[in-house]
Amino acid sequence: MTAASPWTAPPVKFGRSYSTVAVALHWIIAALIAVQLGLGWYMNEVLPDHSPAQDQVTAIHISVGLTLLLVVVVRIIWRLLNPPPPLPAGLAPWERLLSRAVHVLFYVLMLVIPLSGWALVSGGKDPISFWGLAWPKIPGLAALTHPQHHLLKHTHVFILIWVLVLNWGLHVAGALKHQFDGKPVLWRMIPFLKPKA
Ligand code: HEM
Repeated sequence: MTAASPWTAPPVKFGRSYSTVAVALHWIIAALIAVQLGLGWYMNEVLPDHSPAQDQVTAIHISVGLTLLLVVVVRIIWRLLNPPPPLPAGLAPWERLLSRAVHVLFYVLMLVIPLSGWALVSGGKDPISFWGLAWPKIPGLAALTHPQHHLLKHTHVFILIWVLVLNWGLHVAGALKHQFDGKPVLWRMIPFLKPKA
């Protein structure tokens, strides 16, 4: 039996990709998260505490975080109204489960991380500025005790960020694994990578 030539082999069906809006929201949010991780590290680890430079970078971090929160809400509404394409055929049940779990955890983290930041600044004395505009405080947080404030800060800057980084590692590892095991998925989020059928 002769091997099928690439000219006569039936076209491979790759299914549909994510919509343009979903792709744009995915990469805008991924970029904003990268900026936030960089700013958070720089203001906490590099700049001297209580310096004017630290205050300025913190103000940008807060405005970017609130922007992220708004864009994530738009993304979740878009996702509920526009179901994503089904996962590629041929994935093992554990791969489907893991992929869903990683995506759900991302949505939870994308909401909870900015919300915990908002909660943190709501407990402070200073007004909250969103690119120079007044932003409301979450009621009831001004009365946080020092240990409660400390726990919230530790959760925001340490626990949630590490869970995000680990989840991101699983996410990228999964995307690359499928890219090279015959079930390419990258093109679904990076359309110019669409394989030739
Ligand atoms: C922290 C940054 C990132 C976050 C928060 C994130 C989040 C997500 C989420 C929530 C989904 C599921 C979309 C849905 O079905 O509603 C998704 C899909 C996807 N992401 Fe990311 N992502 C990030 C970075 C990346 C990077 C760096 C890559 C490239 C390796 C990537 C590649 C993909 C691909 C290929 C899909 C589609 C998977 C499929 O076909 O089912 N993502 N991402």
